[in-house]
Amino acid sequence: MARSGRFKEYVVVVVGASSGIGKATAEAFSREGARTILSARSADKLESIAKALRSEGFEAYPFPSDVSIRQQAERLIDWVVQTFGTLDILVNSVGIYDIRKVTEADPADIEEVMRTNFFGPVYCTLKALKEMLKKGKGVIVNVSSIEGKKALKHPPGYVCSKFALTGFTDLLRQELYGTGVRVVGVYPGYVNTPLIEKLRLPDSKATKPIPPEQVAVAILDAVEKNKAEVIIPNPTSVKVFLTLSTLSPNIGDWFVRRYNLSGEF
Ligand SMILES: NC(=O)c1ccc[n+]([C@@H]2O[C@H](COP(=O)([O-])OP(=O)(O)OC[C@H]3O[C@@H](n4cnc5c(N)ncnc54)[C@H](OP(=O)(O)O)[C@@H]3O)[C@@H](O)[C@H]2O)c1
Repeated sequence: MARSGRFKEYVVVVVGASSGIGKATAEAFSREGARTILSARSADKLESIAKALRSEGFEAYPFPSDVSIRQQAERLIDWVVQTFGTLDILVNSVGIYDIRKVTEADPADIEEVMRTNFFGPVYCTLKALKEMLKKGKGVIVNVSSIEGKKALKHPPGYVCSKFALTGFTDLLRQELYGTGVRVVGVYPGYVNTPLIEKLRLPDSKATKPIPPEQVAVAILDAVEKNKAEVIIPNPTSVKVFLTLSTLSPNIGDWFVRRYNLSGEF
């Protein structure tokens, strides 16, 4: 499909590009003219997504890496800067899910999820910042979750990693103020991706998953319009829920129970 090319000349790295939100975001940037580097662990999936984009005439480059391992995350960023001479936008859309409730969890499960969902983005971001701060421009996009603002009774590694990523994003935005490097925090509700395929959600408007392409559109829009935050979908209802939860955690918890916002896992 012909697009506007509004990200032409941009070098964009998407981590978590083999599936879901990351895949949709990488495809959207590539189709808008960006030189897009797709990263995740599954080399075969990255190759076939990049190949499909290239066959449509867009620029897409697979670079497999496991970003829970610091050396691999840093090698990815180094390769991008050496190959393309710059890095304009980094999208951290990496995510795994643990399966046990907090009362049944093994600390090792929590550590594993933290390494991927929190330290993966931290390793990529800190390395990318060296290049971005040198150039005095760039955008870091961190895909957290509404669950990085209010826990929804899901497994502890996932919830804690999302709260940690929200804190990291909030801190970064403030520390980077005035440097030319911007930060976008992305806080989706349920999104129709493999990550939540085992979750049994109630049939209600509040928990209806949206397509990952809708999140990708919001991410590109936020980057283009200098937005600090994306809450999607239903930002007004979510903000009311979050405000009530801040005023009274018990009221927030009541909403989670009353509308079964967690579903069953
Ligand atoms: N789906 C939802 O309802 C929802 C809601 C709110 C927020 N989110 C957030 O959105 C982000 C993307 O999730 P998604 O829903 O799109 O899930 P997804 O379809 O399962 O995608 C997750 C991506 O992360 C990659 N990944 C996992 N571990 C990795 C590692 N160690 N190194 C590099 N890449 C790794 C996966 O690829 P490989 O397996 O090939 O490595 C995959 O590309 C996550 O941060 C998630 O928390 C999702």
